[in-house]
This record gives sequence, C-alpha cells and structure tokens, in this order.
Amino acid sequence: MKKIVSIGRGGVGKTVFIALLAKYFRDQKPILLIDADPDQNLAEMTGVDLGKNGTKTVSDILFDVKFDKIEEGLKSLALADKIDYLFNQKVLYEGKYFDFISIGTKWTEGCYCQPNNILKGIIAKIEKHYSYVLIDSPAGLEHLNRRITSSIDEIFAIIDPSWKAFESAKRVHKLVQEIGIKFKNFYAVANYRFPDERLESIEKETGLKFAGKLRYDEDIENYSLSGKSIFELIEDSPAFNSIKEIMKKVGY
Ligand SMILES: Nc1ncnc2c1ncn2[C@@H]1O[C@H](COP(=O)(O)OP(=O)(O)O)[C@@H](O)[C@H]1O
Ligand SMILES: [Mg+2]
Repeated sequence: MKKIVSIGRGGVGKTVFIALLAKYFRDQKPILLIDADPDQNLAEMTGVDLGKNGTKTVSDILFDVKFDKIEEGLKSLALADKIDYLFNQKVLYEGKYFDFISIGTKWTEGCYCQPNNILKGIIAKIEKHYSYVLIDSPAGLEHLNRRITSSIDEIFAIIDPSWKAFESAKRVHKLVQEIGIKFKNFYAVANYRFPDERLESIEKETGLKFAGKLRYDEDIENYSLSGKSIFELIEDSPAFNSIKEIMKKVGY
C-alpha cells in the first residue's frame, strides 16, 4: 500500500491534485480515497454522489453512536461491533474505480476517544487492502495529524505564487515534522498559477524536492463550475499530462 497526501493552503488545488491522481491510478485497483477536508468536495470532483447513496461520514456515525441514534437492532451490540457495522454499511462507499471514505466535519479527539480509536483502528486495518490510499487533507495540518492513521509515503505540498510562497512551503515542511506526521518523501508542487520563471528557484530557495507544476487547465476550471467529474478529462489535457510527469518524476 502506498499512501499519498496533498497539503497546502485553501484553494491551491489540493482536491484537484488528488482527483487527478485517482484518475491516474484507476487501472491499479483497489484504490481508497479519503476526504479528510471538512469542505468535502473530493466526491464531487471524482463523480461520486454520496447523498444519492445515503453514505455517511465518519463524523456522522460517531455522533449517531454517541447519541444512540442507531437502529434498535444494533443497540445491544458491543461498541466496537456497532461501529464496525456502521462503518461498513454507511461510510465505506464502493465505486467502480475506487472506494471512498469521507471524514466529515465534526471528528474531534475530545473526550470521546474510545469510538475514535475504534474508528482509527478500522481505517488502519482496511487501508492495508488497497494498492493506493489517496488523501485530500484540510488546510490545517493539526487536523491532518488527528485524521491520519499511519505513515505517509508521499506528501505533495502545493504552493501558490504569493510573495511568501517559499517561506510558507518551508514552514509547512517544518510543521509537518513538528506535529509528528511520519512520511517518506516531501515534495513541493507548483500550482497552476505559479509563474514558470520562478520554478527553477523552488529547490534552491526552499531546500525541498520539486516534483513539477500542475499546469493550468481550462477544463478543470469549467468542471469545478459545473460539477463535472475529473475522470471525464481527456488523457491529453494539460493537467493530466502534468500529473503523469510529476508521478513519473517521483518514481510512480
Ligand atoms: N490545474 C488547474 N487548472 C485550472 N484551474 C485549477 C487547476 N487546479 C485548481 N484549479 C481551480 O482552483 C480551484 C480550487 O482548487 P481545489 O483543488 O478545490 O483547491 P483546494 O482543495 O486546495 O482548496 C478549483 O475549483 C479550480 O477552479
Ligand atoms: Mg479541497
């Protein structure tokens, strides 16, 4: 199993990156997508209608269990069995190209740690069955830490072209280590608005490994307006070609 995460500020292109990766790996099933961002737009970008399927988030079932809002027949089960049942029945969405879990908004450590730990255990266990686990993370890294179970293989930090972009990339790299997220490789990726003439200075100025640029793609912009799935993007599109180049460069 390889675990890949995109991180970065809001709006840089984290979700687009993960959706493109899901398309890139679609022939290497089984794949698990985890939407750890409370905004929850990975499903839409990958063409999954979770509402239609009656799918719940991890947070939803934690609250259902906490307030006993569950079917009568389940109430007598042991906590671990309840959660296991609800997770498999309600949370895990099994699709044609990938499976999908949405973490939801309310998952906090708090004092409700027993169900939390049970859920982390379930996710850690199922992750092993996949060839790729792709995680769309929230902008706040502390949240990521709570939601990630095991070590990450590749972290892609997506950087936008602000005048402090390099500083913020370095800070994110440091922060990831400080809060104890374990990873093998940490790469900087320039987002679609990053100027080409500054690409060469990324490695020199940040000391990070540079994986490439996710080029501007008109279709991506239009798809996010109309809610169309990134899986429908043609193979020879600028964004999909960028993903191919990036993944090749980092050894996939
Ligand atoms: N390669 C790209 N080409 C064109 N537009 C893009 C590209 N990547 C992202 N975008 C635009 O940026 C918006 C934000 O991207 P998104 O992945 O949702 O950011 P994040 O998840 O980091 O908040 C998208 O809705 C899309 O309009
Ligand atoms: Mg996002």
